[in-house]
Amino acid sequence: MIIKRIPKEATWELRHTVLWPNEDFSYVQMKEDEDGLHFGLYAEQRLVSVLSLFVRDGEAQFRKFATLPTEQGKGYGSMLLRHVIREAAELGATRIWCNARAAKSGFYERFGLRAKPGESFEKNGVAFCVMERPLP
Ligand SMILES: CC(C)(COP(=O)(O)OP(=O)(O)OC[C@H]1O[C@@H](n2cnc3c(N)ncnc32)[C@H](O)[C@@H]1OP(=O)(O)O)[C@@H](O)C(=O)NCCC(=O)NCCS
Repeated sequence: MIIKRIPKEATWELRHTVLWPNEDFSYVQMKEDEDGLHFGLYAEQRLVSVLSLFVRDGEAQFRKFATLPTEQGKGYGSMLLRHVIREAAELGATRIWCNARAAKSGFYERFGLRAKPGESFEKNGVAFCVMERPLP
């Protein structure tokens, strides 16, 4: 198992398959990707989980977190998120946050993130909340 930085293009297939399969492939290609750091977790040389990090003004946002459905629940996402939280702190960010699918808030709470009151919203029929935590 290895975690490494990958080019933005390498994240798009997993994002599309896992997060927005009913949208056009272009939907998961963000213009902000240019400014992001993209991370991939490989198990037996196969890309199974991706996550993108955007650091600006001392704050880090992670976006488009996706693990291949057949590989979910094996701990890969947790390893990748732990790695990226550490990396964000090393890059000097003092806070990390994400727009979390509400269904996943319990997962993020295990990493110390908490929902920001009053900042829930819906996108394409999916409920989201803003979750954040300070970084050391
Ligand atoms: C969210 C996501 C990226 C997490 O990736 P993952 O590789 O499945 O993450 P993990 O395997 O570390 O953890 C997933 C669950 O399995 C559990 N788990 C991890 N290792 C485990 C193990 N060895 N045995 C049993 N359960 C385990 C975790 O506790 C977690 O439980 P929870 O979902 O009830 O909180 C993945 O589920 C996913 O792609 N989901 C669909 C897209 C999505 O919702 N993305 C996030 C948008 S905010």
